[in-house]
This record gives sequence, structure tokens and C-alpha cells, in this order.
Amino acid sequence: MQLLDGKAISSQIKSEIKEEVEKWVAGGGKKPHLAAILVGSDGASETYVASKIRSCEEIGFSSTLLRFEPTVSEAEVLEAVEQLNNDPDVDGFIVQLPLPAHISENTIMEAVNPAKDVDGFHPVNVGKMCKGLPAYISATPFGILEMLIRAKIDTSGKHCVVVGRSQIVGLPMSILMQRNDYPGNCTVTITHSKTQNLKEICQSADILIAALGRADFIKADYVKEGAVVIDVGITRVVDPTKKSGYSIKGDVDFNDVAPKTSYITPVPGGVGLMTICGLLTNTFKAAKKEIY
Ligand code: GUN
Repeated sequence: MQLLDGKAISSQIKSEIKEEVEKWVAGGGKKPHLAAILVGSDGASETYVASKIRSCEEIGFSSTLLRFEPTVSEAEVLEAVEQLNNDPDVDGFIVQLPLPAHISENTIMEAVNPAKDVDGFHPVNVGKMCKGLPAYISATPFGILEMLIRAKIDTSGKHCVVVGRSQIVGLPMSILMQRNDYPGNCTVTITHSKTQNLKEICQSADILIAALGRADFIKADYVKEGAVVIDVGITRVVDPTKKSGYSIKGDVDFNDVAPKTSYITPVPGGVGLMTICGLLTNTFKAAKKEIY
């Protein structure tokens, strides 16, 4: 079993971007600028956004954080989106999800200028990605592809099973793994909460991508000997032994599953750390006007 080490790979990618940004700026390019809109004070969202902002500083980007109370109206958030759409200094921005129930995530996402949609959530970017056209690929799928590439994992002709059909991970991942490119060319099965015989389907996976959001759900009897297992789950579970009061669990029961695999991602220290690299890569592409 080999560990797909998100910590090592993400820090390598960040130092590569940092070096490229230095060259870009030295050559007269504008410092890439990422902005983030954060509504409310959900603990996980606070942590993710803080980490995105910190990463920007580390690699030489500018960043701006716009915070709103959880009671903010949809119209006010739309106004902030419009302001960022029209700010020539901002190359790309994200609206951290989830949003409070009274704000439509679809309405907000569709208001973002696709050229600044570095999360890759706008229907135009999703559509371009489906058609294999240049587009911003969302952060988590980007992170997973990058792990497969850097470990030189062969994907052609393999059976890839994606557990979970979320708009942010399961759906784009299944599209990307079937495309005629590397990493891709897989035969893909996308599964979800209504899937029958889930265990049997998972047992036939050469590459198993677990993105269902249920701690320790995938056990050794779901996994074929020698499979590649990618764990996208990040669930906070109460843990009184931890200073924070919780620990982070993946969708895969790592200790049970790892001995059967050829490659596996740990949680924490796996896919989660890679996602920021996707965002930073997209922001740099936005600054260089590589896609739009
Ligand atoms: N919430 C969970 N993941 C993400 C992400 O990749 N982007 C944004 N904006 N919100 C999220």
C-alpha cells in the first residue's frame, strides 16, 4: 500500500505556483488577487476560508475577505458579487458554501462572472468542463486528478466507482474520469443513496472515489484487492480527547481498508489539502487570462 500524501503533494504544488508567481510579477504581471465572500460563522467554513486566505499570502497572491452576518439578504450578497465582478483588481472570487437557507446558492453561483468563477461552480464552467473545453475545474476534482497524475496512476480502461453525486465532487469527478484524456478513460459508475447493491459495485472498482459524507462508511469488504481508494469525506465527529473537541473522519475506514489497497489517501492529510491547490491554480489562470 502506498499513501497518496496530500500534505507533501500540496506543499510541492504551492511552492511551484509561488515560483511561477514570482516570475510572473518580475515580468510585469499583476499580483493574482483572490476574494472570498463568507456568510455567517459556520466553524468549518471559517476554517476553510482562513486556510484559503493564508495560502494566498504564502504564495504571493493578494486576498480580500468580505464577511456578512448570517441574516444578510440575498440581494446584499448579489450586490457584493456584482461589485467583485466589476472590480478590475480582483482576478477571481469564491462564495463559501453552504449559504444560509434563505439564500439560493444557485442564484448566487449564476451571478458570478464565469471568467472570475475560480471555484468552477458556474453552469458555464460546468458545461465547458463536460464538453472538454478549457474551463475552471472545481477544487476537489482538481486535487484528485493532480494526486493521480503525480503518483502516475494508470487510469485507462479502469473501472472507476464514484460514491456520491454532489454537484461539487461526485458529478464533476465522474465526468472527468470518463473523458478521453489522462487521467480519465475510465468506465465510470456513479452511485448514490438509492443505489442497490452498493457494496458489490464498489467491490468491482479499480479506482474507488468515496464522496458521500458519512464517516468510516467504506469498510474493507467494499474494496477489491489492489484498488486505488480516494477518500473525499471530511466529517467532524465529537472527540473529547482532542483539544478542539472533535476529530476529522473520512468516508473510508482507513485502518480497515488500507492493507487491501495499492494507493489510498488519508484523512486528514489527503484530498482536503489538495483542494486549495485547485483554487490557487485557477486564480493564477484567471490573473493570466488563460481561460477567458
Ligand atoms: N464548501 C465546501 N467546499 C467548497 C468549495 O470548494 N468552495 C466553496 N466556495 N465552498 C465550499
